[in-house]
Amino acid sequence: MLSLPEYNEYLASTRDERMGWWREARFGMFVHYGLYSQVGRNEWYQVCENVPVEEYEALANTFAPKEGACREWAALAKKAGAKYMVLTTRHHEGFSLWDSKVNPFNSVNYGPHRDIVREFVDACREFDLKIGFYTSLMDWHHPDAGIAAFDTEARKRFTKYIRDLNEELLTQYGKIDILWYDVSEPMNSWEGWDSLSRNQYLRSIQPHIIINDRSKLPEDFGTPEEHITPESRDWEACMTFNGISWGYLDSAQAAPYSYTPQRIVAMLQTCCERGGNLLLNVGPMPDGSVPPEVIEPMSKVGEWLSVNGEAVYGKLVKTYGNQNQANGVSRSSTKGNTVYVWYKIWSPSPDGTMGCGGFSNAPESVSFMDGTPIEFEHKGHRIILKGLPKENPDKIIGVPVIKMTFKETPQYCFASYFPQLNKGRQVDEIL
Ligand code: GLC
Repeated sequence: MLSLPEYNEYLASTRDERMGWWREARFGMFVHYGLYSQVGRNEWYQVCENVPVEEYEALANTFAPKEGACREWAALAKKAGAKYMVLTTRHHEGFSLWDSKVNPFNSVNYGPHRDIVREFVDACREFDLKIGFYTSLMDWHHPDAGIAAFDTEARKRFTKYIRDLNEELLTQYGKIDILWYDVSEPMNSWEGWDSLSRNQYLRSIQPHIIINDRSKLPEDFGTPEEHITPESRDWEACMTFNGISWGYLDSAQAAPYSYTPQRIVAMLQTCCERGGNLLLNVGPMPDGSVPPEVIEPMSKVGEWLSVNGEAVYGKLVKTYGNQNQANGVSRSSTKGNTVYVWYKIWSPSPDGTMGCGGFSNAPESVSFMDGTPIEFEHKGHRIILKGLPKENPDKIIGVPVIKMTFKETPQYCFASYFPQLNKGRQVDEIL
């Protein structure tokens, strides 16, 4: 077994290769589905309402995912333009959605008597989506979980259980792309969770796997939750669809809290600009159907991405800063020498012009995403776009993107209230 420094070194030396696809994928769909989906009061319902384990267990008998539910999720993810999916194979409730030999509390022994993880994996492969397994460390069902922090024998049994569960997941379904740990309680160190040895072992089974940072080791990527905050490493913001729950909620009531396609696209823009991914959650209904309030927004996002995906997928340059804001109603993403300006609000002046501040060299060409050229003039650090239509040109969701191609690297400068600062200087030189 490698020591922690050796392990980190090994990860660093293999990371670029392992994470190439993930860094270009940008957009994934999270799926929270389990016994709690039947109750519709958040996936923490068991703990929040102090439901005794024996009472909670009864939910396993009524759990009835319909045939084809996983295909429905995969079809939606594909349609939305997501490139990967992550499924809660076992949430904190401790119910395994697969044919587990070490956890009899599972979907083959109870409820549907089916291996949902198998169906999920098959659906991902059918729709050409990369496959992620969410796996909780915390477990409200296992008798050793609660005492593992202070009882050495219980800890040994429990950490072995966690290892065995994940071994099953990573040996029974072929190539798996992401292992997504969650909530490392009650132990509070990687030693307590035996994470170094377990993760090395799991990587030996799936050498290309990408692992998140929630097993008390930094591993491959950070996981800001319910906020999009960049980290100085690879990161992925995971977001609920409604700010209330990861698990299913009554759709009619959840709808007013739910994201619009415009807000999802705005989240994607932030990720594009700041070098991260967006993992957007869907909490299927009790029978596994996609909740109605997510269908339309996700479909619209997909339609929008089919026109503007070039501004989202692939090797983007991290550009966040005042200098690359483009203008007050737009922000941008950058790929090589191309800057994509995303407009939240389309509002050209009566003479058909709008400016983009903060560029000290001139683009070679400017166009809409369908290739229609836009006339422009570069003046100081302004690019003035001309002849713009009054009507919002994006008929899908009203978020048009303009593509500016530069011959050389775009030179950003502050779109500044102190233009004298810009005289021939790059941002980094202004102290
Ligand atoms: C949290 C919650 C959980 C959810 C997860 C997703 O840590 O405990 O319910 O699955 O975040 O990021």
